[in-house]
Amino acid sequence: MASILKRLFTNCACPKGRMGRAMLKFMNFCHAPLTNWGLGLADIQDGWTILDIGCGGGATLKRLLERSRDAQVYGIDISEESVAKARKVNAKELDKQVFVCQGSAEKLPYEDNKFDLVTAVETVYFWPNLPGCLQEVNRVLKPGGRFVIMVEVVDNNSKWTDLVEGMTAYQPRELQAMLNEAGFVHTVVYRKRPSYATIIGIRK
Ligand SMILES: C[S@@+](CC[C@H](N)C(=O)[O-])C[C@H]1O[C@@H](n2cnc3c(N)ncnc32)[C@H](O)[C@@H]1O
Repeated sequence: MASILKRLFTNCACPKGRMGRAMLKFMNFCHAPLTNWGLGLADIQDGWTILDIGCGGGATLKRLLERSRDAQVYGIDISEESVAKARKVNAKELDKQVFVCQGSAEKLPYEDNKFDLVTAVETVYFWPNLPGCLQEVNRVLKPGGRFVIMVEVVDNNSKWTDLVEGMTAYQPRELQAMLNEAGFVHTVVYRKRPSYATIIGIRK
């Protein structure tokens, strides 16, 4: 039983195959409360160009479109399965207002100063070389653009980090310090029960 759960939840890191598809459906639904709360703190404006990194099954892309009229919303994910699901969930707006591609936070395939907002929901746990990825986010943001990180696992000795292979949980203050180190300014941490955290930084 424990090994089935481990196999299932390791699909959080990079969804693959049938279990990956099941996990994407589950995450689109289960991450709604954290995502809606975190996006509500981001002061999102109409007409923005937005990137969601680790977009998973694409529910956040849809939620972003609802919050920014006439937005252009980009999604990127390392998993082929996530990209397929995100495209399906956003089929109506695909390649008009929503653009999804496969790739990693380590090397974003976008030009400098492109985005007003970059979001990352429940994904920084899996990014290799997180400080390097934060530099990449900084590069693709416009000056004054914001980066919004949402996490609900904030304890590296939790059942989640035991269950999900390759997962590193960061404390919100630790993420804030990393944002500061990467050159973001006006960084702020918001908390909400049970263990939600949103960390926001502005590109100088
Ligand atoms: C726990 S899921 C969260 C998905 C989605 N953000 C949500 O809230 O439902 C983590 C996602 O991050 C993606 N991911 C992991 N490492 C990544 C990386 N280095 N670059 C981009 N995406 C990555 C995974 O493939 C997976 O789809």
